Amino acid sequence: MRVLVTGGAGYIGSVIVAALVRRNHEVLVIDNLYKGHRAAVMALAQLLTVDLGNAAAVERSLAEYGVEAVIHMAADSLVGESMQNAAKYFRNNVVNSLLLANAMVATGVRRLVFSSTAAVYGEPETVPIAEDAPLEPTNVYGESKLAFERMLRWYDQVHGLSSIALRYFNAAGAVGDLGEDHDPETHLIPIVLQVPLGKRDAVQLFGTDYPTPDGTCIRDYIHVGDLAEAHVLALDALARGDVPSGAYNLGNGTGYSNRQVIDAARRVTGHAIPAIEAPRRPGDPAALVASSERIRRDLDWQPRVPGIDEIVASAWEWHQRFPNGYPD
Ligand code: UFG
Repeated sequence: MRVLVTGGAGYIGSVIVAALVRRNHEVLVIDNLYKGHRAAVMALAQLLTVDLGNAAAVERSLAEYGVEAVIHMAADSLVGESMQNAAKYFRNNVVNSLLLANAMVATGVRRLVFSSTAAVYGEPETVPIAEDAPLEPTNVYGESKLAFERMLRWYDQVHGLSSIALRYFNAAGAVGDLGEDHDPETHLIPIVLQVPLGKRDAVQLFGTDYPTPDGTCIRDYIHVGDLAEAHVLALDALARGDVPSGAYNLGNGTGYSNRQVIDAARRVTGHAIPAIEAPRRPGDPAALVASSERIRRDLDWQPRVPGIDEIVASAWEWHQRFPNGYPD
C-alpha cells in the first residue's frame, strides 16, 4: 500500500515507518522537522518537509503520491506544555488534523490510523482502563486528541472515512538505530538514563504523595516496537474492512510506579541513580494502566517486549550507542 505517515520523523513515527517498509509498503513521510529528525527517516521512505497547516501542499502530496492510507502521528504531545499553551495544542492537534482529514476526503483517501492517547481518559475511576471508560481529559493535550477522535466518528458516517484511533499509554524503548531523542526531554525513562550517561546527577520524582502504594504515579509502559506493530495491524484491518471505525488502547496492562521505573533502570544499568523528591507536575493523573483486551481480540495484537526491565534495557542500549541522539 502507499501510506502517508505524518510525523514520521518523530520517535514513534520513525519506528512505524521502519515497520511499514519491512512489510513492503511504500511510505511517504510528511514532517515539518520541528521536533522530528531527518536521520530517523529510513532511506527507503520519502520525506516531505511540509507543515500540516499547509493544506494545499498536503492535498497535492496525497494526490501526486497516490496515497491509499494515512497514519497520522504529527502532533504536540506534552501534557505540561499543553497546560501553558492551549492555543498551540488546539491549532496543531485539532485544526491541522481537520485540514488533513479534509484533504483525505477531497482526494478520496478513506483509511486513517490516528495516534491518540491515554490522556483522553483523564483521572480514571478504575484501572485497568477499558475503551468504554469515561472520556474526561484533565489536560489540554488529552482534550485536543479527544476532539479529533470525536470528529472522526462523524467523518466515517458522513464522508465514509474509516479510522482507528490508537490510544497510547507510555511509549518507551528503541528498535535498532531508532530511539527517543527529544529536546527538551521530559519523559521519565530517558531522563532516568541521563544519570548513568553522566548527563545529570539525579532524577527528580514529581510528586510522592499520590494515592498509590509508594506515593508516585503509576504508568503502563509499552515498547515502541510493539506500538508500531499495532499500527501495521490496524492498517491491514482497515484495508480488509473487517473492523468498524473506533478506538483501541495500547498498553501492556501492568502499571509501574515512577520509583519502580527507577529501580528497573538501576538493575539494568548497575548505576545507583539518585532520586530527589520534588513537587507534583500539573496535569499528571495518579495511575494510567490500559486494558488492551480489545486490540488483542480484534487485531490479534501481541506485545513482544512487555517487561519493564527489557523495555528500559532496549532504551539503555540505544542511549549508550547514541549518547547525543540524532545528528540533526
Ligand atoms: N516524571 C518524573 N520525573 C521526571 C519526568 C517524569 O517524576 O523527570 C514522572 C511524571 O511526573 C509522571 C511519570 O514520570 O508521573 C511519567 O511521565 P512522562 O512524562 O514520562 O509521561 P506521561 O505519563 O506524562 O505522558 C506520556 C506521553 C503522553 C501521554 C501519556 C499517556 O508523553 O503523550 O504518556 O499516559 F498522554
